Amino acid sequence: MKVLHVCSELFPLLKTGGLADVTGALPPVLSKLGCDSRVLLPGFPAFMKGIENLQLLIELPAKFGASKIQILSGTIPNTEIKAYVIDATGLFDRDGNPYSDSNNIPYADNYRRFALLGWVAARIAEGIDSEWLPEVVHGHDWHAGLAAAYIKASEIYNGKKLAGTILTVHNLAYQGVFPAHVFHELELPGYFFNVHGLEFFGQLSLLKAGLFFSDKLTTVSPTYAKEIQSNEQGCGLSGLLGSRAHDLVGILNGVDPEVWNPVSDKLLIANYSAKSIANKAKCKITLQEYTGLKVQSDFPLFTIVSRLTEQKGLHLVVEGIYEIIKRGGQVAILGSGEAEIEQAFVKIAAKHPDSVAVQLGYDEDHAHRLVAGADVILVPSRFEPCGLTQLYGMIYGTLPLVHKVGGLADTVNDVSLENLAEEKATGFVFNEFNIVEFNAAVRRAFALFSRKTEWKKTQKIAMLQDLTWDAAAKKYFELYQQVSN
Ligand code: ADP
Ligand code: GLC
Repeated sequence: MKVLHVCSELFPLLKTGGLADVTGALPPVLSKLGCDSRVLLPGFPAFMKGIENLQLLIELPAKFGASKIQILSGTIPNTEIKAYVIDATGLFDRDGNPYSDSNNIPYADNYRRFALLGWVAARIAEGIDSEWLPEVVHGHDWHAGLAAAYIKASEIYNGKKLAGTILTVHNLAYQGVFPAHVFHELELPGYFFNVHGLEFFGQLSLLKAGLFFSDKLTTVSPTYAKEIQSNEQGCGLSGLLGSRAHDLVGILNGVDPEVWNPVSDKLLIANYSAKSIANKAKCKITLQEYTGLKVQSDFPLFTIVSRLTEQKGLHLVVEGIYEIIKRGGQVAILGSGEAEIEQAFVKIAAKHPDSVAVQLGYDEDHAHRLVAGADVILVPSRFEPCGLTQLYGMIYGTLPLVHKVGGLADTVNDVSLENLAEEKATGFVFNEFNIVEFNAAVRRAFALFSRKTEWKKTQKIAMLQDLTWDAAAKKYFELYQQVSN
């Protein structure tokens, strides 16, 4: 089975969030099932530099504002996975974030940049690589939404079926919406600009293109798959998603043990496992020293490793943090995003340096130190398609405290008496998104922390959850078989 993944981020080369973790982890696991996966990437500097042995495959006619377009092929470091990289002079060779300039303003020509990504996917599906023809094109998020549209356009024009298509929605809130007047630049059939097509309330939506034209749709948890069919969480697309309910499946993300594993994580001062967890205490002390927090062991240390955006529900923490401090707990935060949330945490940390530490920015190494050294990881998201940090927390014996929504609802079991009795509890779950419920969950965390035996038992249960990618890879593989016929 030959599958082309189309995406804009890939760990470890370029990452702004969990999307990169998924696109980095999934293809190698699929290989183990006999699935020959390749990846198509825009020629961002990180990929031009990081993909190994890049060689010219073919030069394509210049378009979408690029003065020259070359398709290169190479290998993702430390894997046998092949990558195609689009070297498009003027479109991708820009520093910083893949989507925005240094002031965080989205690039005005994003529709052209990601049109090119989808357009090249269709050319690969037509066979520009004489040695490798995908049977399935698997797009990730709005950046890849047009791949299915270009494939459909080619099939209609040439009367020949190409690869089956799948779109995975990692986050419905990001849609790639652009003004209608740029539609003609996309070189798609005019009638594609239609409510039965990629028209979206008078504009054009790259995500909708993918949702409409792909053979099958997936998202990253079963609960989110249901939620996005509702008006409240459908981001204007619930009607389309509801009408495609039979083609939409929720497949939970996993954890890559090569990257997130307390047994072998080289970024930790000491390694530990579910069987022998004593060294986790060393990680906590080192973290307290590193962040300037008071070194203490009697109270829980909470952490946040997150994009600081509205989605992540962090204003509950800004409000609820005093409940934690009052009880002797500590909070260590790593994140970057909206200035208002950043400044709120910075201010609290300045007032309570023994109890609260904040590091702004993106720091992979510190993320590992926090996940290992803390006792509880806070993920109170308003909505969460899957969420990976709560999974990393579990694997590291750092119990997640989460809002019961999306993938968080699917992956964390509250420490209710019945869950404790049945040895199912893995964290602290609050149902309604409000401060009263958040604070109650925080109090449950303190209560459990003071009962050492039960705390350790819950840690162990969390650490022993099967969170690998194997189950997900099998489900994707089944879908590939369905759409490739
Ligand atoms: P999302 O993709 O919505 O941001 P996920 O929980 O799926 O949420 O994935 C977030 C990923 O990004 C995790 O791998 C997490 O460790 C990482 N991450 C988030 N913020 C930072 C940061 N400031 N520094 C380092 N890693 C971060
Ligand atoms: C998105 C979602 C997150 C998910 C990640 C990987 O960024 O916000 O919930 O875990 O994609 O699928």
